[in-house]
Amino acid sequence: MKIAIANDHAATALKNHIKNYLEEKGYEIVNFGTDTEESVDYPIYAHKVCRAIQEKTVDKGILICGTGLGMSMAANKEKGIRAALCAEPFSAKFARQHNDANVLCMGARVIGTGMAREICDVFLTEEFAGGHHSPRLQMIREIEDGTFGD
Ligand code: RB5
Repeated sequence: MKIAIANDHAATALKNHIKNYLEEKGYEIVNFGTDTEESVDYPIYAHKVCRAIQEKTVDKGILICGTGLGMSMAANKEKGIRAALCAEPFSAKFARQHNDANVLCMGARVIGTGMAREICDVFLTEEFAGGHHSPRLQMIREIEDGTFGD
């Protein structure tokens, strides 16, 4: 599985940790994030990862900033992106099973490396359950397109 990862200055250390961890597990990781702690603007990096997903050059994305909030807000403005901000594995599991999330967001100032590893493990292995969850995703697409009926 090919994963795009990106971060801002608040999350360079956690990005490096997760990148190494996932590469050791056999994932192919494409790093779109900053590699320094010099202040940068997180929407630029969210956009790079979302673009890779939209162009289908990667399977999923991981975005990390200080809280994960800015990255998730920016990513969820992108067409076809369902970004889930997770601080524990339970949410990551259902972000995949019920919401078919294609981007995982995390906050480097919120969680530690061990929790981040577990969240990634769950997010990257759980599958979308389909069934009655599918029409709900279609509704999200219609909201995104402006075609959702009142
Ligand atoms: C950067 O200081 C911080 O605002 C950013 O990493 C993120 O937490 C934004 O949501």
